[in-house]
Amino acid sequence: MNGALFVNHPLIDLRSDTATRPTPEMREAMAGAAVGDDSSGEDPTVNDLLEKAAALFGKEAALFVPTGTQANQIAINVYTRPGEEIIADAGCHPYRSELAAAAVISGIQFSFVTADRGVYSRKEAEDAFHPVAERLPRSAILWVENTHNAGGGQIFPIDRIKELRTFANSHGIPLHIDGARIFNAIVASGIGPAEWGAQCDSISFCLSKGLGCPVGSILMGSEDFIREARKRRKILGGGWRQAGILAAAGIHALDHHVARLAEDHQNAQRFSELTSGIPGVRHVYETTPTNIVYLDVADSGKTAREISERLKDRGVALSVPGKTMLRAVTHIDISREDVDKGAAALAEAVA
Ligand SMILES: Cc1ncc(COP(=O)(O)O)c(C=O)c1O
Repeated sequence: MNGALFVNHPLIDLRSDTATRPTPEMREAMAGAAVGDDSSGEDPTVNDLLEKAAALFGKEAALFVPTGTQANQIAINVYTRPGEEIIADAGCHPYRSELAAAAVISGIQFSFVTADRGVYSRKEAEDAFHPVAERLPRSAILWVENTHNAGGGQIFPIDRIKELRTFANSHGIPLHIDGARIFNAIVASGIGPAEWGAQCDSISFCLSKGLGCPVGSILMGSEDFIREARKRRKILGGGWRQAGILAAAGIHALDHHVARLAEDHQNAQRFSELTSGIPGVRHVYETTPTNIVYLDVADSGKTAREISERLKDRGVALSVPGKTMLRAVTHIDISREDVDKGAAALAEAVA
């Protein structure tokens, strides 16, 4: 859309919904933002964003951080002591994609649940749970990712989360939702933010993904949790100053970019359908609940890297999460026409 502003940017960038660029209206909101020092809690626009987010999810307090990774690592650090563990599925973002930060920063390990596209139930959580014992690390958090990135944008059913939270809290541990893409789950399920917020002790979401902001994530929970989180943010070098410029983009996105996520879901569904008949391309998951599609190209006889290079020549970019795996993610800068061109380019690149 506003790609003309950028040189060296692929025409159709389906690598991730982090590829979005701020719209002219968002840039205008950013340029006019009132600012202060957020490190001391004095940025008025950040404070407006935090109030808005906390009210939406029904949480007492919120914190603005630069990335989803930092939101995850802060939550882990607040809830754990070195030598403890997180109960999560092995596809979760902090295990797969954060450079072992949870081990490096907090000294914790993971206890994995059996899961289907990132979704698990109380029985699986019970199997992975370790109470305080002489030889086993204490389980300190129950971790849910919603929607699930490696699970192809899967939505974690809210009733499951409710059961898991009851289980977690009965053992005195919190349930945290990595909601980097919770707004995709909200729009696709019709279940509002307050309902998801009511089923967890803490939750984060990313502004810099489907919501189309250049930077930022929000972490929410109780006042005590956020007080501690704010200290961890400072320790991690995240005590930024006039962040109101970025928060203004967040407020704009919450006001204008949520309902439109339905369009991204329709486009992802269309991309799935258009690519399902391509010889040599197999869909990793049968359904496309939100905006992420994984394709396995093993049967094409080419590597995913080779296909991605051919796609680049055609002005299309897909990410390469594995040797034979490609991933397409739809977002605000991808139109229906882009999806059609992307699918056609894939058919050519695989042939
Ligand atoms: C589920 C999930 N959590 C956290 C993150 C990390 O976000 P960031 O790239 O802003 O660090 C991502 C990024 O893709 C993600 O998919």
